[in-house]
Amino acid sequence: MAATAFDLTGRVALVTGAGGGLRAASAMALAGSGATVLLAGRSPAPLEALAARLPGAVALPLDITDEAACEAAFARIADRFGGLDILVNNAGARDRRPLDQLDTAAARRLLETNLVAPFHLSRAAARQMAGKGRGRIINVTSIAGPISRAGDAAYTMSKGGLEALTRALAAELGGQGITVNAVAPGFFATDANAAMVADAGIADWLARRTSLGRWGRPEEIGGAVVFLASDAASYVTGHVLFVDGGYIAHF
Ligand SMILES: NC(=O)c1ccc[n+]([C@@H]2O[C@H](COP(=O)([O-])OP(=O)(O)OC[C@H]3O[C@@H](n4cnc5c(N)ncnc54)[C@H](OP(=O)(O)O)[C@@H]3O)[C@@H](O)[C@H]2O)c1
Repeated sequence: MAATAFDLTGRVALVTGAGGGLRAASAMALAGSGATVLLAGRSPAPLEALAARLPGAVALPLDITDEAACEAAFARIADRFGGLDILVNNAGARDRRPLDQLDTAAARRLLETNLVAPFHLSRAAARQMAGKGRGRIINVTSIAGPISRAGDAAYTMSKGGLEALTRALAAELGGQGITVNAVAPGFFATDANAAMVADAGIADWLARRTSLGRWGRPEEIGGAVVFLASDAASYVTGHVLFVDGGYIAHF
């Protein structure tokens, strides 16, 4: 296949949670393929630092749980860029607590970030993409979409829901030329996981538990995002692409 099938020149992409550990990978890979990348998150500083490194990138401070603020941001995107082509629902929160210590309000807050926000952002994005007859929505789920462990109920239900939302929106939006897929990371050596990365016991366990025998490097998520965002994936929708070193496949 010609390399041009992965070319995103002229496409406008919004990446949420762009100040987090995997952001460099997704946003940089999209920018590296030619997209204009809008970097969303609540704290402006990491967004501005990343924007300074990516040609054409723009920091877009935004709380994705604030639906009115998101609608206003989409209006600005329409005015300034002529609408969105690619949405990467990457922002995610985590709350690792056993069930009897996890209060309902905290679980609801997590769902607002990990599931309800991707729902309303996808709806707003789809309205702009429908006008172009083309669009890409990519939800960053997790291996916690299809499998689980104790003490992680809120995150697991949010990622399982996001995986289901991926299929639902693929079914609903396909007729408008919009594909909806998920990228499901396994264990990535991000700053947030630094303590686990430094733990030799966990490294040993990953060596036995994954086919590739190691942590993922953040830059290893970018290829999957670019593929699903590009014309190369024009007939791929409703799919969950695991980027997990073989964790799900391995036993
Ligand atoms: N790292 C892994 O190994 C791994 C594994 C499986 C799945 N994932 C998934 O991959 C995605 C990215 O992971 P990560 O490791 O980069 O996470 P991270 O380092 O915790 O970053 C999450 C980002 O989301 C942003 N965010 C949180 N709430 C927000 C809100 N209400 N509005 C806007 N932005 C918000 C945060 O920025 P602000 O606080 O500035 O808003 C932060 O930049 C997440 O969905 C995560 O669940 C990661």
